[in-house]
Amino acid sequence: MTGSKAEFPKDLLAQIKYIEEIFTVETPKLKEITDHFINELAKGLSVEGGSIPMNPTWVMSYPDGYETGTFLALDMGGTNLRVCEITLTDQKSEFDIIQSKYRMPDELKTGSSEELWEYIADCLHQFVETHHGDCSKLESMPLGFTFSYPATQNYIDEGILQRWTKGFDISGVEGQNVVPMFEAALAKRGVPIKVTALINDTTGTLIASAYTDTKMKIGCIFGTGCNAAYMENAGSIPKLAHMNLPPDTPMAINCEWGAFDNEHKVLPRTPYDLIIDRDSPRPGQQAFEKMIAGLYLGEIFRLVLVDLHDNKDIHIFEGQDIAALRRPYSLDASFLSAVEEDPFENLQETYDSFAARLNIKCTLPELEFIRRLAELIGTRAARLSACGVAAVCKKKGYQSCHVGADGSVFNKYPHFKARGAVALREILDWPAKSNPKEEDPVEILAAEDGSGVGAALIAALTLKRVKEGNM
Ligand code: GLC
Repeated sequence: MTGSKAEFPKDLLAQIKYIEEIFTVETPKLKEITDHFINELAKGLSVEGGSIPMNPTWVMSYPDGYETGTFLALDMGGTNLRVCEITLTDQKSEFDIIQSKYRMPDELKTGSSEELWEYIADCLHQFVETHHGDCSKLESMPLGFTFSYPATQNYIDEGILQRWTKGFDISGVEGQNVVPMFEAALAKRGVPIKVTALINDTTGTLIASAYTDTKMKIGCIFGTGCNAAYMENAGSIPKLAHMNLPPDTPMAINCEWGAFDNEHKVLPRTPYDLIIDRDSPRPGQQAFEKMIAGLYLGEIFRLVLVDLHDNKDIHIFEGQDIAALRRPYSLDASFLSAVEEDPFENLQETYDSFAARLNIKCTLPELEFIRRLAELIGTRAARLSACGVAAVCKKKGYQSCHVGADGSVFNKYPHFKARGAVALREILDWPAKSNPKEEDPVEILAAEDGSGVGAALIAALTLKRVKEGNM
């Protein structure tokens, strides 16, 4: 380990080498993954389909910045529930927003369908009453519903859940259109609101980002889950041929790329990735997401540590009770972020959090190993993510563009952005920059609020299309 101050026991040193090997993805592998990704994107658009769903979203234009009106947006992501009221003002590309966040109770994620819709409807009801008073006097307001799971849409205000992702496991929803379920719960409370558009967070991110930056061509989420959306031409979507759309008609595609390589052809999965998959509510699904997304990063880290401790040839956390570390999903990505942020001099914070949260007193070599492990897991996630971005750019022939990204991993995980940029450079063979401040041809930038503003914009674009009779 470069820069290491610790005397490493031989067994641990050998183990570090092995862990480094299995978690490192070198340039040729990144390129191989990207090439396979490009094929899979096309397969998803074909009539036969592939493992990446490539869902047409019926978002059929970018905003021009002159959209106006007041909209509600409901964001049901993986971790929180957010209700927003967004006013798109007369000033080009400007908006006002008021919002409330609600915790998404863990029990709800594996509870019943009814409990889910009742809870969401309660939150929306409460929000509307707080800001508008008695619901019975309220005129209906258009709502953009950000439902960030794979959904089949034959219309923009429909969403047939293909399958739950991100650890959700609520029976009676897969295969169903979620809009009537949610609207029924609203109607029961006398809330006069109908869903104008059901959107994915990535599509919202794409549209919200393009609202303020016309170079934006891809919207990505690197958060609890991992996914992207981009604008395709109808002519390149064979599975929509029956709609007889003019070939140059734009259609935003929610890739659902978390499902990339579910058939395990190319991703360099470690034994720990296999355990994550085996023990998840949906084994065999979301292979790519399970190596990248915030929901899983802390768990991969935890699994490695437990495995090494249990290996009697390796002496890590010797003689310590690791009961707390044995609890599945007890460490989240923010734990890993904190390890990576800890100044390397003495890794004091890492020592303190292992002691306080896990009741483990680490030695210096152990602390350095923990830090290296976090780096390896975080770096792998960023580098694999870059393969998806590079694949969309290559498929579309984008030599240069902006990519709008959002989500806790992108926004909070140390070095995620820089590591992704390095990998993109390797995959796309860009020459070295003459000036370090120069933009990369493809820049991944922090996005506008896709699930709020993006949802409002898509609702506005939908109403405009209805008015023009182009549904
Ligand atoms: C999961 C969902 C997808 C969403 C992503 C980010 O991959 O299936 O719809 O966009 O998480 O939230």
